Amino acid sequence: MATTRRRFLALLAQVGGAAAVQGALPALGFGQAEASERFTPERNARARGRKVLVLGSGIAGMTAAYELGKLGYDVTVLEAAARPGGRCFSVRRGTTVTDTDGETQVCGFDEGLYYNCGPARIPGFHVTLDYCRELDVPVEMMINRNPLAWDYTTRGPLAGRRLRQKEVEGDQDGYIAELLAKAVSTRALDAELSAEDRANLLDYLSSFGWLEKDGRYAGTARSRGYAVQPGAGEQDGQIGTPLPRSAVLARELGFRHFFLRSPFQQPVMLEIVGGTDRLAHAFARKLGPRILLGAPVRELHQDARGVRVVHGVQGKLRESRAEFAVCALPLTRLRDVVSDFSAERRSALASVNYEMAGKIGLQFGRRFWEEDDRIFGGNSSTDMTITQIMYPSTGMLGRKGVLVGYYAFGPDALELQAMSPAQRLETALAQGEKIHPPYRRSFEHAFSVAWGKMPWLDGSWASWGESQRPPEYAVLCKPDGRIQFAGDAFSHETGWMAGAIDSARRAVLAIHARASAEPASHAPEVTR
Ligand code: ALA
Repeated sequence: MATTRRRFLALLAQVGGAAAVQGALPALGFGQAEASERFTPERNARARGRKVLVLGSGIAGMTAAYELGKLGYDVTVLEAAARPGGRCFSVRRGTTVTDTDGETQVCGFDEGLYYNCGPARIPGFHVTLDYCRELDVPVEMMINRNPLAWDYTTRGPLAGRRLRQKEVEGDQDGYIAELLAKAVSTRALDAELSAEDRANLLDYLSSFGWLEKDGRYAGTARSRGYAVQPGAGEQDGQIGTPLPRSAVLARELGFRHFFLRSPFQQPVMLEIVGGTDRLAHAFARKLGPRILLGAPVRELHQDARGVRVVHGVQGKLRESRAEFAVCALPLTRLRDVVSDFSAERRSALASVNYEMAGKIGLQFGRRFWEEDDRIFGGNSSTDMTITQIMYPSTGMLGRKGVLVGYYAFGPDALELQAMSPAQRLETALAQGEKIHPPYRRSFEHAFSVAWGKMPWLDGSWASWGESQRPPEYAVLCKPDGRIQFAGDAFSHETGWMAGAIDSARRAVLAIHARASAEPASHAPEVTR
């Protein structure tokens, strides 16, 4: 199923786009330094040794455990899977995943090659980077936008043509500038503009669209690049002919401009050297034996004195008690936990839809996107199911490479998720080779992740919708007695590690405030 602009925009909004932009920047911690400054809980004697159970070792659970540990709490993290990190996961040689439908993949990438099947790009203002600094996790630049990457559509007048994004977008800007300049020059907007505004706007439009002196858009090297590059001597370069205006307008490309001009999807972002899961590993190293792996939570109860959690461990059921809990399980799993939750919370939990995003990593024996197409980083986009191809920002000019052969959302992702790994690969190759003809010849290994089929996760992120959060959101964010909730789903930064971290800090502050105000209720046993 094709990704339409409208749907794409809706998806972006869900992951911290429009809704967040609309006036929420200060609350969101744009200028995250402020948020970090606000998070300054102080150790006190009352906190020391008091027990807290953290459910889930994703970034939210581990942030909560790490920060509570710093304050002196005795923390135990219960993790259902055999590895910590949750969705903070990268795929490299030897990675093994058995989908919930029983299909197993083992990654055969060459040593040193990897891709981030979960979070990958980090905006500079996200609190995530504060933890990278604190935990000595190096970051590097990640190229999120590359005007030389391809645009490929299967519909409309430009169907089946590989076009550089710059060509299409340059022409689009040019035509829009030309039309608006015409309207201004023919005084169609005089009711809106003063004489000074008019002059300023015409000046702006002439730069925006690289217009000729007479106000026409004719296509320049700066607006759309060269079809034949300039060189020495006589070779002055050839500017391609602009695409027909109606064809460009039909391409519905506006979304890419808006997407990449938002503060959340910057042209250049940051990524973690060697794979995003190195952040999860760094947290896990700090927490050491306090994380109990293979310990799925089955029941969550509380009374006036503390919480009681029934969980698995080494194939048996155990009971652990603590004074407080931070529940950082995905909502998809929390629904199945037996609990004393109110009917209101239960029905709120049931109401939340989850996005089921998916990616495939493809190893190629030759970096043809660099060698043949001169594409270094960024993403090619298409209306096919694969949605986009994301090029690595590392290992450039190297021999082999892993690119992301699809990163799909919504119905496209569901379609891919319903397939076997072999079918997903075939789809990625069949569609990808339209954009890159050497695909099949150079293909070596694949590993796909369908988050909706990932054990213990069952989804990628909560889909709260484009506009205001439904009332269920507030119901779910409220603590329940001694239980605090954390995870990106409990934030306005859904689908970002920063959301997990900020929600965890909120939970830590709430527990610390309560524990500091009241004496320990008892010294419950926590199973280790
Ligand atoms: N934050 C995620 C992304 O950038 C959803 O794709």
